[in-house]
Amino acid sequence: MTIQRLPADAPPLATVARIGDFVGQTVTLRGWLYNLRSSGKIAFPQLRDGTGVIQCVAGRKDLGDEAFEALIRLGQESSLVLRGEVRADPRAPGGYELKVSGLDILHAAVDYPIGPKEHGPDFLHNHRHLWLRSRRQQAIMHIRHLSVMAIRRYFDERGYLLLDSPIFTPNACEGTSTLFETEYFGRPAYLTQSGQLYQEAGATAFGKTYCFGPTFRAEKSGTRRHLTEFWMVEPEIAFADLEDIMDIAEDFLVFCTQFVLEHGRPWLVELERDLSKLEAVQKPFPRISYDDACVQLAALGEPVDPDDDFGSPHETVLTQQYDRPIMVYGYPTAVKAFYMKENPEKPSRVLGVDVLAPEGYGEVIGGGQREDSLDVLLHKIQEHKLPQEYFEWFLDLRRYGTVPHGGFGMGLERFVTWVCGIPHIRETIPFPRTITRLTP
Ligand code: 4AD
Ligand code: MG
Repeated sequence: MTIQRLPADAPPLATVARIGDFVGQTVTLRGWLYNLRSSGKIAFPQLRDGTGVIQCVAGRKDLGDEAFEALIRLGQESSLVLRGEVRADPRAPGGYELKVSGLDILHAAVDYPIGPKEHGPDFLHNHRHLWLRSRRQQAIMHIRHLSVMAIRRYFDERGYLLLDSPIFTPNACEGTSTLFETEYFGRPAYLTQSGQLYQEAGATAFGKTYCFGPTFRAEKSGTRRHLTEFWMVEPEIAFADLEDIMDIAEDFLVFCTQFVLEHGRPWLVELERDLSKLEAVQKPFPRISYDDACVQLAALGEPVDPDDDFGSPHETVLTQQYDRPIMVYGYPTAVKAFYMKENPEKPSRVLGVDVLAPEGYGEVIGGGQREDSLDVLLHKIQEHKLPQEYFEWFLDLRRYGTVPHGGFGMGLERFVTWVCGIPHIRETIPFPRTITRLTP
């Protein structure tokens, strides 16, 4: 059987997503059996073709006994080709129905493991390769795709050069506690935690660049917000200070949420997302210093040690107070990465910012202004006990034409979790990797 071409006498090939273009015509649809109800004389198969699900009507009289009997015996996810007339029917889910006049069965599936009954998350994740066929997972994957489109469009249309950062690296970027080590021709190498350091080379070479790829962190705790493999987009901009970075992060997040809202409405509706919460994501985002946030948190009954970082409960409580993302800047120097620039007026605080999503979702973006002085950076590398020899190239960026610069990283899956309004990050990536999961 040819894959794309149909026999010369077959009706034209349609898809469920574009079925409205074929009303009144006889078409061919190819897909998988999503569901089937039948009586002795009439069957209502639902066909899933990857672009959507359509209700079909098949009469014993129209198909003949043999084909009708074969159809009603098919199990869920059997693959088949249906031919029939497209009818507009406001009562049908989706607004259209296929009146089946002929069918070919490609494969009769038996005992598909994911039924309409409730399954536990472990069972579903063990069957992730099949679970991706379910409506909710399809909606989430579409939102993920739209988010990637929005992210790329934002930077591509604003003069950022895409400059891919490497995945194998000789050193840590975000602290040594979450490094994945691997063997690289007899010496150690690490899977990248962030492409930032290479983007700093990019920004001084091209003005502004971004990378967007997989990053890895050996997160030893299984939380609703952490994956061990996740995708991060990281812009880096020369001649920028913290204020500029906050302006860009804010503009970027408004663009991405509104793009997904505009193009992904049916998927968000499928996920029962409260769209008004996304519509509210507009400028300006409140900008709150870390120290002020601590005061607020204490008043909310969730005190923080002023020299410690926020934990998830702090972010949850704080973001529940706002209808849009907030930008918390000026975190304690002691808890942040070596490359962050200290606030010259208050060295115990860095010129870094986290953007926290509302509704309790918390951090989606981390970034800020980078240390641009060679001497200070050298000192920081020593202080953090990092191997200076692996950072010589990075120090060169301060030796030759150093300028104030900065950038940020947004975790794609954190963004998608929030936009979809779902409780757990692991459903936002096709095949999640967590501390307990490496398969499928
Ligand atoms: O805040 P982070 O650690 O910042 C950096 O890596 C910087 N080097 C980025 C930069 O300035 N270029 O991570 C950035 C973002 C977080 O805000 C979060 O969205 C996401 O990456 N992230 C994770 N997402 C999923 N699972 C994890 N384990 C994550 N760790 C960070
Ligand atoms: Mg962070």
